[in-house]
Amino acid sequence: MTRGWVFLGFGEAAAVLAAALRARRLPPPVSVCLPLGRAPSSATQARLTAARIPCDLTPAAVRGAHVILSLVTPTAAKDAAASVAPHLAPGALFVDLNSIAGDTVREIAGIVTSGGGQFVDAAVLAPVPLRGLRVPLLLSGTASEAFHRLGRRHGLNTRVLSTRPGDASDVKMLWSVITKGTIALLAESLVAAHRLELLDPVTGLLAREYGPTGSAAMVMRMLHSTVRSGARRLDEMDEARRTLGRAGVPAWTVESTRRWIAALCRLPTLEAATVPASVRELSDALNTAGVRGERSRPA
Ligand SMILES: NC(=O)c1ccc[n+]([C@@H]2O[C@H](COP(=O)([O-])OP(=O)(O)OC[C@H]3O[C@@H](n4cnc5c(N)ncnc54)[C@H](OP(=O)(O)O)[C@@H]3O)[C@@H](O)[C@H]2O)c1
Repeated sequence: MTRGWVFLGFGEAAAVLAAALRARRLPPPVSVCLPLGRAPSSATQARLTAARIPCDLTPAAVRGAHVILSLVTPTAAKDAAASVAPHLAPGALFVDLNSIAGDTVREIAGIVTSGGGQFVDAAVLAPVPLRGLRVPLLLSGTASEAFHRLGRRHGLNTRVLSTRPGDASDVKMLWSVITKGTIALLAESLVAAHRLELLDPVTGLLAREYGPTGSAAMVMRMLHSTVRSGARRLDEMDEARRTLGRAGVPAWTVESTRRWIAALCRLPTLEAATVPASVRELSDALNTAGVRGERSRPA
């Protein structure tokens, strides 16, 4: 087995992590495999060209690799694992970092171990572009200790939760109910506050009562990033619903969050640089897109 690390997928998260790994002293050899028999999109191709990183479109490219990091999309995670599993070196560490439910993780763990690899469930607990290599990664699965020791040597910010695959991802899904739900709450309340000319007192309450989560920077990030790249969060919400279903808990807020994210990610990108201007832009865009609630008549 070589000491190489192979990324499955080369989206926003993989590109940031690969660059950060390669910038370290004594980095592992890093390459990319796009294993599902499809040509990369123009966005992925542009990232590959900018990174000048070796890329292979055949699943056999993982042969001999020591670590395989899967960062595709929630819906592609299982197929990506299945395509490379027959080519894994015995004992290779397959680390799944996709935002998926514990049940999906356990299916993938079975695929990986039957191919002779060791499986690590890794939940990414913050935006990768903001935190880079220091993004918190919660690990579970029988090989999580082994990856924790290796990852620390290469600057990763890992923490082991348990030896059960799926635990880390279920924590992430329950956290997503809160974090993605917050985005929906912000969109719903702030657009209404803007239209009722009450934005200042509402954002004032947010800043006072919600600490860093209510800060202008965080509000801007949540709204802008959802409009820009919210589509993949729809898959994440479907996976969160799966985790809630396993617990027998109704996914009421997840369903509402999904509706807001679907509406936001269909809008043109927000350009504004302040919260009031962003909310005004959002309100106008929702109007143009025909996203309306029922207006009550004045008493
Ligand atoms: N970005 C973050 O900060 C962050 C944080 C937490 C968790 N995550 C998780 O990490 C994973 C990657 O996120 P990302 O933000 O990097 O996503 P992204 O920018 O959308 O990139 C996804 C990558 O997967 C590839 N891909 C998509 N569908 C595929 C398919 N059916 N078959 C093969 N490859 C496919 C894409 O290729 P094409 O461009 O060719 O479609 C692209 O290279 C997701 O599961 C996400 O939930 C990301």
